[in-house]
Amino acid sequence: MRILSGIQPSGRPHVGNYFGALRQYITLQAGNEPFYFIASYHALTAVQDAPLLREYTVGVALDFLALGLDPQHAALFAQQDVPEVTELAWILSCVTPMGLLERAVSYKDKVAQGLIPNHGLFAYPVLQAADILVYLSDLVPVGQDQKQHLEMTRDIAGKFNQQFGEVFVIPEPYILDSTAVVPGIDGRKMSKSYGNEIGIFDEGSALKKKVMSIVTDSAPVEAPKDPAESTPFLLLSMIASEEETAEWEARYKAGGMGYGEVKKRLLELIDGYFAPFRERRRELEKDPAYVLDVLREGGMRARAVAQQVMRRVREATGLPTTY
Ligand code: TYM
Repeated sequence: MRILSGIQPSGRPHVGNYFGALRQYITLQAGNEPFYFIASYHALTAVQDAPLLREYTVGVALDFLALGLDPQHAALFAQQDVPEVTELAWILSCVTPMGLLERAVSYKDKVAQGLIPNHGLFAYPVLQAADILVYLSDLVPVGQDQKQHLEMTRDIAGKFNQQFGEVFVIPEPYILDSTAVVPGIDGRKMSKSYGNEIGIFDEGSALKKKVMSIVTDSAPVEAPKDPAESTPFLLLSMIASEEETAEWEARYKAGGMGYGEVKKRLLELIDGYFAPFRERRRELEKDPAYVLDVLREGGMRARAVAQQVMRRVREATGLPTTY
């Protein structure tokens, strides 16, 4: 199966990105044909500072590699290395009803948060559809917040196929129930824009400060507590073994356990889980040329596929290349 997904280089990835999506990128590599990219054109809707965007893009590539993405097998690339996606985005724009984009929740959220909207932000889901469709992707691992974008992609692909013939595969989202919405330290969805994130590569006192400041209710130690409503428990259940998770669940329900205790254990678990990735990232940072080679090679592989599909798209729409 062809797997495709992407992440915006709009900062350092966080634990929500990891459990919601990146971990699935890695587990889905084996036995499939994976394409993973850094959504730099999407980030440009908000990050308009060239050195910063460059730094974040290389940073995300390092993160992917440190987390276990195998560049021999998966194509790891930067979105701008496949400019065909922007061409496809235009063609798809012409079969995308305005009403579809006007219903986009993530656009409305960003505007509500005070982002001054540009046309790129409004058209964002069409570019995302192009990212997915241009590789004829079957499966797209994402978190819950991308579900609507996937539905829009399926709609747009259906409209194109109906109008011009069956060119595109209708992709399926791959969303794990247990990690679909990873909570941040204030209990809302973990997100850079809420400033409530725990970074994948955070360590030492910075990590401790974040974990210890996770918001909990004010139930006294002796009171029984609801684990399903508790951020430290929800985060812990993503890392701890099933047995350990079951033990904490029982302790929550029995009462006599303070939140400080579970946070302390959560800190140990996060620290231990990500330590080997931090180490690998430090190693990779020593060889910047390697990361650029990986991106270049991944970009060429991805572009070759996109060019083939675009030939079919151009034929189907009556826009064949004339030279
Ligand atoms: P982005 O960069 O916001 O996030 C990357 C991935 O992380 C997931 N995620 C979460 N999952 C669970 N809980 C959370 N708190 C959480 N926060 C983030 C996101 O769902 C996503 O899977 N539009 C995309 C990037 C994109 C894309 C694509 C993705 C562009 N083109 C094509 C898939 C296919 C985005 O902004 O993700």
